[in-house]
Amino acid sequence: MPGLTAPSDYAEEPPRHPALKINSKEPFNAEPHRSALVTSYITPVEFFYKRNHGPIPKVEDLSRYSVSICGLVNKPIQISMADIWALPKYNVTATLQCAGNRRTAMSMVRKVRGVGWGISALGNATWGGAKLSDVLELVGIPKLSSVSSLGGKHVEFVSVDKCKEEKGGPYTASIPLKQATDPDADVLLAYEMNGEILNRDHGYPLRVVVPGVIGARSVKWLDSINIKEEECQGFFTQKDYKMFPPTVDWDNIDWSTRRPQMDFPVQSAICTLEDVDVIKEGKARIAGYALSGGGRGIERVDISVDGGKTWVEARRYQKNNIPYVSDGPHSDKWAWVLFEATLDIPANAEIVAKAVDSAANVQPEKVEDIWNLRGILNTSWHRIKIQNSSSVGRSKL
Ligand code: MTE
Repeated sequence: MPGLTAPSDYAEEPPRHPALKINSKEPFNAEPHRSALVTSYITPVEFFYKRNHGPIPKVEDLSRYSVSICGLVNKPIQISMADIWALPKYNVTATLQCAGNRRTAMSMVRKVRGVGWGISALGNATWGGAKLSDVLELVGIPKLSSVSSLGGKHVEFVSVDKCKEEKGGPYTASIPLKQATDPDADVLLAYEMNGEILNRDHGYPLRVVVPGVIGARSVKWLDSINIKEEECQGFFTQKDYKMFPPTVDWDNIDWSTRRPQMDFPVQSAICTLEDVDVIKEGKARIAGYALSGGGRGIERVDISVDGGKTWVEARRYQKNNIPYVSDGPHSDKWAWVLFEATLDIPANAEIVAKAVDSAANVQPEKVEDIWNLRGILNTSWHRIKIQNSSSVGRSKL
């Protein structure tokens, strides 16, 4: 496409904030320091994690950029940015989380394949754009359709980036037509992030945002939308981002036996302390994030200072002066919830966080029980080991 091109090398990457922790340079994969996540409910764009599989595409000429909508539609069309801007604009606050968030901790149990993420491969942004359900009406697919008149059941998104997993082909993903045409699912074709024009790293000029679902389905630098009978057959849908049991390894894996992961499970992590930390005995503020997939709210966040023997409930919050109620009308259903508790920390404590979502799903206790060869969906209790400050002889408080 002349409007949007994908370089084949990394010579023209955009500028990035120097404080990001780089997990891989080419492609660029980076996350902020965990403490940056809890300084604001909305993650500033420069501190939002960046997850790429190839060099960042470039817009040569926005007036020549268009997205084709084709496949099982009566009349394929090309829509320009002007067409997208003409549709009603929605602002949706949604957390994107990479399925590989907290992979490094899983790799301590047994080796896994994938980028070594800490606990910050997620961020919460207000995305501005058109609803996919409105866009699909332009090709005659009504709202709340499970099957289109020509038998389409899936909506595939195709980008332009050159990914080595696709042998130089573009990144792709799909979602069910039912979700794509449901206005309440809030799937966006987004051109803004936190009130600014989307930047190159995050998908300029147009990306998909699928709230409540692992970040892998929110395709950046959108080139085309295909209505298909089958789900996407690309690498990232069929041979990646699937959850296998601990018994499956690279010698006996059969990718076809598992569904592509969509919703993410309930998750939480503590951001005000390092995984092994030295603090003075006494009171400390324990704060972090909690979130669940599928629009489920966070019903509770429990904190323990004795490795999970006893628990206290943390305060949950999203916006200033609006009490957070899980699934409540004033809560952002697709967004994370921040939590905090100020607790007495005994010597050599093990501090633990675990969240419960509005369907009463609870994080699993042990990472060993959910180990999988791709190291995805590490949602085990987040544990912080505190070393006795008197024995170490320094304090941070
Ligand atoms: N879209 C394209 N075209 N190429 C990619 O590499 N990465 C996906 C998704 N969309 C990706 C993509 C993955 S795995 C994640 S987690 C999110 O984008 C990350 O979005 P972000 O970089 O804006 O945080």
